[in-house]
Amino acid sequence: MTYAAITGWGKCLPPAVLSNRDLASILDTSDEWIVSRTGIHERRISHVGLEELGYVAAARALAAAGLTGSAVELIVFGTCSHDDQVPNMASGIQRRIGAQPAAAYDINTACTSFLYGLSTATALIRTGVVRNALVIGAELISPFMDWADRDVAVLFGDGAAAVVLEASERTEGVLAQKLGCYGDAREILRVQGMGGRYANRGVLYGVTRWQFEGQEIFRRAVQGMSSACDAALAQSNLKADAVDLVVPHQANLRIIEAVARRTHVPMEKVFLTIQRYGNMSSATVPVALCDALEEGRVHPGALLLMPSFGGGLSFCAHVVRWGSRTTALHTSAVELPPNDRPALEILRDCLARKTRPIATGAITPFGDA
Ligand code: UT7
Repeated sequence: MTYAAITGWGKCLPPAVLSNRDLASILDTSDEWIVSRTGIHERRISHVGLEELGYVAAARALAAAGLTGSAVELIVFGTCSHDDQVPNMASGIQRRIGAQPAAAYDINTACTSFLYGLSTATALIRTGVVRNALVIGAELISPFMDWADRDVAVLFGDGAAAVVLEASERTEGVLAQKLGCYGDAREILRVQGMGGRYANRGVLYGVTRWQFEGQEIFRRAVQGMSSACDAALAQSNLKADAVDLVVPHQANLRIIEAVARRTHVPMEKVFLTIQRYGNMSSATVPVALCDALEEGRVHPGALLLMPSFGGGLSFCAHVVRWGSRTTALHTSAVELPPNDRPALEILRDCLARKTRPIATGAITPFGDA
């Protein structure tokens, strides 16, 4: 039987750090509130576009796998914060790494996009359609944030990471997964102003208002992730105590603790990055995977559990068997262009939008009465 082993991994975090104290200088919030309610201390703000973040992560993942760009057969780009809808993001990466004529498509299930991409790429390798794939989770949330809204502005950050999958005869890579969606709850997380519903309706692109029911998202996230963990473990005939490390989506430390409790995995086996990056949507899980490898938390043959949730409200959990190699074969010389601007300075133009938010009732998107 053919499996899809993870043979390369790489991340790209923009260097500018936005601290809770920085946020408290523009919003009615405090470091104490953010840390105690979410676990977040700081997050990154990108000085470059999404393709650049994704490309650097991809180049690093390819080097780690010892694969040249021209050998890549499939590129899957998971994101909800595209530079452009058309052309898609994956075709830009294809051009940058010289992978012509590899298949290249984007996936958007919000924060779960990387893991949904991992599922589709794994399936295409396991069924023999392609022999390898580059799967990217990258997100540039900061330009789409409503920086006047403390309910959401404190939660998110920018970042990117990628993995390389290659066909293998050994039992490794994604062994089981549960994918799902609570479509009935799709209105609890909507970014107004982002999408065709608002096109030519008097909305300045990127000027957003977030429809965000934090407590209901919290409840659904815990329910979706823990039920998906149970289903994926059952599918692979494994019990929770077989899990070596949980690499979860990181939106709120209290959500992660509740999922760990329900799944019967102790927090010592849960890898956390939320304190330093916040919620990077689809980049969160692959960045955490890269950090876990760098910190020696993934050992050869380890069993990983990766639960996630996102707008939609999508949820999933993946059971992954790691292979024999936990170090990169090579490193890449590719770097982001340098940046010397502080995060608040990068956000200057976005912050200016505070003066012209979308007023309630000012727009009638398609599909609304
Ligand atoms: O990928 C999907 C991403 N979304 C999520 O993961 C969201 C999931 N939900 C959550 O993480 C939590 O619900 C939040 C962190 C968003 C909010 O935490 P909470 O414990 O549910 O707080 P709350 O909404 O009940 O708000 C408590 C208080 C309110 O004040 P009052 O009404 O009690 O006076 C809020 O107005 O905290 C206030 N508040 C803030 N205060 C300071 C809300 N945001 C802030 C803030 N700083 N940033």
